[in-house]
Amino acid sequence: MTAPAKAEVKTVKLTIEGREVEVPAGMSILEAAKTVGVLIPHYCYHPGLPVAGVCRMCLVEVEKAPKLAPACATSVADGQVVHVHSEKSVDARQGVLEMLLINHPLDCPICDQAGECELQDYTYQEGRAEGRYREPKRFNPVEDFGGDVVYVPNRCILCTRCVRFMDSVAQDPVLNVSERGDRALIGKFEGEDLTHPWAGNVIDLCPVGALLSKDSLNKVRAWEVDRSASVCPNCTQGCNMIIETRDNQVVRLRPRPNDDVNKFFMCDYGRLNYRWMNRRDRADVPLVRRGAALETADWEIATRAAADLLAGKRAFVLASPMLSNEALYLLSRLVRKTGGEGAFRVDRGEEAPLPGVENLALRRERAANVRGAQLFGFQESERPLDRLTMGDVLVVADEELAGVDATAVSRAGAIIVIGTTLPTWAERSVAVVLPIANFTEQEGTFTNVNGRVQRFMQARAATALARPSFWVIGDLLAAMGEGTGYFTAASAFAALAEAHKDFAGLSYETLGVRGRIVAGAERAPAVGASA
Ligand code: SF4
Ligand code: SF4
Ligand code: FES
Repeated sequence: MTAPAKAEVKTVKLTIEGREVEVPAGMSILEAAKTVGVLIPHYCYHPGLPVAGVCRMCLVEVEKAPKLAPACATSVADGQVVHVHSEKSVDARQGVLEMLLINHPLDCPICDQAGECELQDYTYQEGRAEGRYREPKRFNPVEDFGGDVVYVPNRCILCTRCVRFMDSVAQDPVLNVSERGDRALIGKFEGEDLTHPWAGNVIDLCPVGALLSKDSLNKVRAWEVDRSASVCPNCTQGCNMIIETRDNQVVRLRPRPNDDVNKFFMCDYGRLNYRWMNRRDRADVPLVRRGAALETADWEIATRAAADLLAGKRAFVLASPMLSNEALYLLSRLVRKTGGEGAFRVDRGEEAPLPGVENLALRRERAANVRGAQLFGFQESERPLDRLTMGDVLVVADEELAGVDATAVSRAGAIIVIGTTLPTWAERSVAVVLPIANFTEQEGTFTNVNGRVQRFMQARAATALARPSFWVIGDLLAAMGEGTGYFTAASAFAALAEAHKDFAGLSYETLGVRGRIVAGAERAPAVGASA
């Protein structure tokens, strides 16, 4: 049987700012311009929303057309010649900006959006140096929109992105344009609030400082933060995100676009659940028990002590599904080497889909790497220590054992903690503590509910002497006579990809910042199914 022919994509050729471009028929001029690196100013247009064509900020000159065209709502055509920066186009956009600024306050010094505001940027780029409007500006009070959102109507440019998101993507139409003309503002329908689990996305979508997050209100300025590409660890969906830090503290999480996972969005639960990343009650130095006390030790001594405890014993590894693939893979080697077993448990909550995007939901399983834990052979159980047998060495890998039956723990011959925190029970009964960096402090990968392996980058420095998990577990294996350890997450991943058939052929280079599906991963469990 011959393979079906690939559907032919009809393309058109046009010229944008003197650059030849060939793009699929039906694409907008605005999107076509992006393909040759030309950014046409725009406000109401957003690739994740239906086109509205209401702001007129994207006006461009198209040769032979009778008037300027809105680039977001005009399709490309063969032979078109488009001028984005011609006098006529810039003049029209300057007029639009002047109109938008009539009622906009001179608020930038106290506005949370300053430094990442498209009104600021385009005004600086091509606006008039002075306004000619001499009348008093319109004033409306700030309004609590519910959820995490506050509305500052004086800054609103009526682009309707927020309204369209709630209508078409969240499919919870609670917002509208109230009033008309220069009195128009965004309103909520009577008795409604922005409490939809994905409503916080209107904050990112708003191109100006009109919709702001209550959580980060007045906390940081855009130019004070460092940004790292990461993956949300708060459920198995694995939304791509950016971690923003200031003074080594995580201060804000924002979505990072990935068409295959989360489009442009992240849920409010994921967005606001970041305080644990800054926890201060950390395991921060290696510890070894001497009599009744846990004493600080250097890394070599602590690793040796852990290896000695494991010699000739069965390791029962209780691992957190928040650990990276690299850490879980190395722990699975520890299990195999000692003829032991691996288990994990996961917190669950309500599922909350985003109706306008297929296969995107806040998943029930509230941990990043449930799929990874399964792929590396860890068994899920609500009573994860049931199979711990008398005399096993219990390796607790970033699990706090909250609510776990103490009598089960007492079957362990010895306990080793490889973790980010040191719970109080550990101080009494643990033999060795090997402190690890948490996921914001190291590089690694997670496997999401669809079997997509995605990289997260280090966003902040690790606490005290804590080391990346792949490094600590690699050194422990080396002390037990297996391998020589790993100095980089990439080399730990390379070993994983070589050893594990599902990951064959993957590397940090091929994963890039968007990730790849593991071989043989069946289509994602649909929204509504478990990981
Ligand atoms: S609040 Fe923001 S997103 Fe909504 S219409 Fe106003 S400017 Fe646009
Ligand atoms: S859906 Fe899950 S992964 Fe995505 S932002 Fe929410 S908690 Fe994070
Ligand atoms: S971006 Fe084209 S009209 Fe608003």
